[in-house]
Amino acid sequence: MKDAAFQQCIHPDCAATYAVQDIKVACDKCGGLLDIRYDWNRLPVPKSLSFFEHRWNTKGTGTQGRLDFSGVWRFRELLPFYRTEDDVITIGEGRTSLQQADLLARQMGMKAASLLLQYEGLNPSGSFKDNGMTAAFTHARMVGAKKVACASTGNTSASLAMFASLAELRGVVFIGSGKISIGKLSQALDYGALTLQIQGDFDDCLRRVRQISQDPKNGLYLMNSVNPFRLEGQKSIMYRVLEALDWEPPDWVIVPGGNLGNCSAFGKAFAELKELGLVKKVPRLAIINASGANTLNELVTRRKLSWQGGRFDKTVVQKLYAAMDESNYVAQTIASAIEIGRPVNLPKALRALDSMNGVVREVSDEEILEHRAMVARWGFGCEPASAAGIAGLRRLLDEKVVSPSDRVVCILTGHELKDPNATVKYHTGIDLKAAQELAPRTPPHGKLSNQPVPVEDDLNAILAAMERT
Ligand code: F0G
Repeated sequence: MKDAAFQQCIHPDCAATYAVQDIKVACDKCGGLLDIRYDWNRLPVPKSLSFFEHRWNTKGTGTQGRLDFSGVWRFRELLPFYRTEDDVITIGEGRTSLQQADLLARQMGMKAASLLLQYEGLNPSGSFKDNGMTAAFTHARMVGAKKVACASTGNTSASLAMFASLAELRGVVFIGSGKISIGKLSQALDYGALTLQIQGDFDDCLRRVRQISQDPKNGLYLMNSVNPFRLEGQKSIMYRVLEALDWEPPDWVIVPGGNLGNCSAFGKAFAELKELGLVKKVPRLAIINASGANTLNELVTRRKLSWQGGRFDKTVVQKLYAAMDESNYVAQTIASAIEIGRPVNLPKALRALDSMNGVVREVSDEEILEHRAMVARWGFGCEPASAAGIAGLRRLLDEKVVSPSDRVVCILTGHELKDPNATVKYHTGIDLKAAQELAPRTPPHGKLSNQPVPVEDDLNAILAAMERT
C-alpha cells in the first residue's frame, strides 16, 4: 500500500509517483517537477484552522515544544511527510509577524487597515528561506544525506549554511561571482559552508549544481526550490498570514518572483486548504518581477502563457529562451535576490496563478528602490527584492486591478540589513560595493576563517574545488 505521503509528478499526463524517502528533484519518467502529496483520508487533519492556535504559546524545548515553537512545524498536520518528530531539524524559524501598515497605506493612497506586511526577514537567517530549509533538511536527515548544496542569489545560501551547521552536514553553496549582497555572503562564510564563487550568474550556478547532484556518486543533496520539500515548509507563510487575520483570507497576496518557489508554495497551500474545507475563499495572487529579470511577466502577461490544466504551451517558453540565448541575455537588477532569467518553478507558478486567479507585473529598479525606502520610512524595512512587491502593488492600484480598500498582504521576503549597500547608495550616492572591490586585502587569520573559493564555470574545476576542501 502506498504511504500516506508520497511524491508525484505534476504533469497530468504522467503523474508518476515516488516514495517520500526517494531523493529526487525531477520526475524520472518525464523530467517534470514533483509535488509532495498526501492521502488526507489516512492522516489526522484538524477540523478547523483555529486548532493550531493553542501551540502559539508553547516554550521551545522538548520534542513537542520545539515543534510547537517553530512557525513552520506548529502547522505540522499540514506537512506530514516526516516519519517521527525526531527527524525534524528546526531552529525556531517562522516566528514572523504580520503588521498592519497604516502609515505606508496612506502613502500608497490606500484605506487604513488595508495594507498588511508579512515580515519574513524576521526569520533566524533573515529571509523567508528558513521556512523551506527546515523542511528540506528534515527530509535530508530522513534519507541520511551527508552533503547538501544549492545555487543561490544569496538568501538560500545563508539559510542552507545555517541549517547545515545545525544538522552537522557539509554545506556547499554555489554563488555567482560578485552577484550576491555582502550581508548574505558574510552569513554563508560565517556559518561555515564551502562557498564556491562561480564565474557566472545564478542560472549558471543552478545548472551546475543540478548537474553535479544528479550524479549519485557525488552524494550531493540539492536544496534549491526544485526540491519539493522546500515548498512544503514555505506553505506555512500562508498559514501564518491566515492566523494573523483570524483565519479570514485577505483579498490579495503579493510576492516578488525569482525562481518562483515561494509563489508556487502559496498556491499549493491554498489549493490544499480548499480541498480540506479549511478555507472558503482563496485570495488573488500577484507575482512581481524586476524588469531586469522579467521572464514570468514576459511569458504570462505579454505572451499569454497559462496553465491549461498542466498542458501549457511549452513552445512559448522555448521560443523565449531561444531568443534570450540568441541575444546573450543576462538578467540584471538591483534586486539581486530575484536576478534570475530561467525560473525553474515556472510550471508550478503557472498552476498557482491559475488556482489563485493571479496576475504578474514587472517593476523597474528605480521603482524598487523608491518603494524599499518607503517601507523603511513607514514600515520597518526590507531588502530591495522584497520591495518589488510594494512597487507592484502601486502599479496594480494605478491600473485599478487592486482597489484602495482591498485587504492586501505583501510578503517582505528578506531583512533590510541583507543589503546595506543598496540602502547606503540610495541615501548617500556612495557605492560601497565598488569601494570594497578596491580595498586592500590582508589574509584572514581567524581560527574559523572561511574564505570563498573562486572557480570557473566548469564541471571538473568545480568538482576539484569541492574535493580540495
Ligand atoms: N525575495 C528574496 C529576498 C529572495 O531571496 C528571493 C529568492 C525571492 C524574493 C524570490 O523567491 O525564488 O521563491 O521566487 N532568492 C533565491 C536565493 C533565489 O537563492 O536566495 P522565489
